[in-house]
Amino acid sequence: MAQFWKPETEKPRLVEDEDGGVIFLSSSYSSSSSGYGYVSIEKQRQRLPVYKYRTAILYLVESHATTIVVGETGSGKTTQIPQFLKEAGWADSGRVIACTQPRRLAVQAVASRVAEEMGVKLGEEVGYTIRFEDISNPDLTRIKFLTDGVLLREMMDDPLLTKYSVIMVDEAHERSISTDIVLGLLKKIQKRRPELRLIISSATIEAKSMSNFFLSSKRRQALEGEELRPRLEPAILSVEGRGFNVQIHYVEDPVRDYVQAAVSTVLLINDKEPPGDILVFLTGQDDIDAAIKLLTEEARSNGKNSSGLIILPLYSGLTRAEQDLIFSPTPKGKRKVVISTNIAETSLTLEGIVYVVDSGFSKQRFYNPISDIENLVVAPISKASARQRAGRAGRLRPGMCYRLYTEEYFLNEMSVQGIPEIQRSNLVSCVIQLKALGIDNILGFDWPASPSPESMIRALEVLFSLGVLDDDAKLTSPVGFQVAEIPLEPMIAKMILSSNELGCSDEIITIAAVLSIQSIWFSARGAQKELDEAKLRFAAAEGDHVTFLNIYKGFLQSGRSSKWCHKNFINYHAMKKVMEIREQLKRIALRLGIVLKSCETDMQLVRKAVTAGFFANACRLEAYSHGGMYKTIRGSQEVYIHPSSVLFRVNPKCVIYHSLVSTDRQYMRNVISIDPSWLTEVAPHFYQQQRHNPTIH
Ligand code: CDP
Ligand code: MG
Repeated sequence: MAQFWKPETEKPRLVEDEDGGVIFLSSSYSSSSSGYGYVSIEKQRQRLPVYKYRTAILYLVESHATTIVVGETGSGKTTQIPQFLKEAGWADSGRVIACTQPRRLAVQAVASRVAEEMGVKLGEEVGYTIRFEDISNPDLTRIKFLTDGVLLREMMDDPLLTKYSVIMVDEAHERSISTDIVLGLLKKIQKRRPELRLIISSATIEAKSMSNFFLSSKRRQALEGEELRPRLEPAILSVEGRGFNVQIHYVEDPVRDYVQAAVSTVLLINDKEPPGDILVFLTGQDDIDAAIKLLTEEARSNGKNSSGLIILPLYSGLTRAEQDLIFSPTPKGKRKVVISTNIAETSLTLEGIVYVVDSGFSKQRFYNPISDIENLVVAPISKASARQRAGRAGRLRPGMCYRLYTEEYFLNEMSVQGIPEIQRSNLVSCVIQLKALGIDNILGFDWPASPSPESMIRALEVLFSLGVLDDDAKLTSPVGFQVAEIPLEPMIAKMILSSNELGCSDEIITIAAVLSIQSIWFSARGAQKELDEAKLRFAAAEGDHVTFLNIYKGFLQSGRSSKWCHKNFINYHAMKKVMEIREQLKRIALRLGIVLKSCETDMQLVRKAVTAGFFANACRLEAYSHGGMYKTIRGSQEVYIHPSSVLFRVNPKCVIYHSLVSTDRQYMRNVISIDPSWLTEVAPHFYQQQRHNPTIH
């Protein structure tokens, strides 16, 4: 039986399952979003806490070079401040107001919300740009949302960002690697462009330390005698929120399985507590999908008490239609359960949440410069994050937060703040971007938080081996400049450049496009066996990269059919995205003088090109224990092939991985087999110490 969320046909549609119990996302809903019917948009705007500060914000921006705005999530910072600025004339005479976000999904969501509030078509007066998706118009767009990564890219063409009158660096508390680089660079730009205004906004921020960062003693001196300049001392404005009390519950004993515990808690809330939506914080697509499956099964066997649960995932990579569902009002008599990554912690506000279930974990990037290993780890969140998560429950009325950890743990073991991403990341991409912007003294760069010198040195070494930097640590010509120009990680960029020489650029560009999205497989949700069978149909002995080529071919041969995708457990939306990205990469390649050429069936060339980019991730098989134990050739770190790889249990002697994820062990995702002799061929410097190691040759 089909059921509609709201009567209007253009609203996303939900379909009830056969038992009339839990509601699923239908795959055939429309993707448009339209206005909210309840209160007029203007009224909604006026009710936001930030509205009362409109005059104050505009005054501070007028009179100060930098304004720091701290305000609770949902108070209206992101959606309202750019509109205030526009109304006050900051976007007149062709100027543009920019607002950055660390997350792509947040960029899309807030841009469409603001376009809706202003009653304009998204992509015209209000637009957005994320990597590989530019929904803006250089002539029309006055308010532009973009990721901080894209703003960094824009600096390569326009180092002083001259088209922007105000740049709002939003979600600064997240301290993403790009946010930190952007802050350092904007501080430099401000010296050259006194008319530029910065707004730094965040939910919780050490406002004072951010303010100190923007005020060095030198700048104070520069101010003297220049009355016309805006005040250089940053202004700090705190927006008083209107959050309600949130009652916190802790578990008595530590939980062993937070997915199971989260599901049980949701069912308990649904049984015992009055209406109100539930927001569950897990860590990533895998455990979110697992939780949805469990919840669906348990709710169904629970009987009628659980009918009316609307279960929705929230993670990056959702389609527009799926995003729209998250923001749609919950129909009467239903209860929405949104199971999210920490994107809902501060980047996005969902109306109607009364209950929060906090697993206490998030996926975080960690890098060890000694072993040169970077991976995504499910790690405990900080107290600051835990408070933010709880706060999501108190927007409408007093709420409740169920923490799946003990009070003792919260008080005594959780760290107070998270560590800025720049201090726990591989810096290869960061270094090349700064080099491309002409910043040569990277160690001496004015960072909001300094990265470790070891990580810097590692990055310089990899870039040197890639042929991107020369002996003086300057970008090489043309390779270094070309790699910097490709908006992908330097290793992928190098792989593309090498494919040109090897004559397999057509194949490598497809691979690069697939690697730049999360997954092209449809999440299994209880159909693991069928998914594995589908994978076997495309599996290539060489590994995952070549498997992607088989899938791409099959997709083209099917006439880009969604049915074909469905039958083969391939995510149709992901494939469409791959096609789009591939087109863009083709254009970039052409600009760099690369003409697409296919190597037809010679997969050795493809493997060599992958090696030329990813030699640093080479591993060799050490033992057959635990399904095949590998060690990284450079750092001797123990790693295993991820079960999702077509090479799982195949265990070639020598492989290269694209990325690592860490759970009980370090797992390699997207793996290809190579001939070890290629390593010394493509990266002699990098593998020098290994010269005497017999397994390399
Ligand atoms: O940036 P901040 O967290 O301070 O708030 P915001 O993102 O500007 O959101 C202000 C309000 O707009 C929220 O309370 C939401 O109700 C609403 N909003 C929405 O309904 N849909 C969106 N996509 C974004 C915001
Ligand atoms: Mg915001």
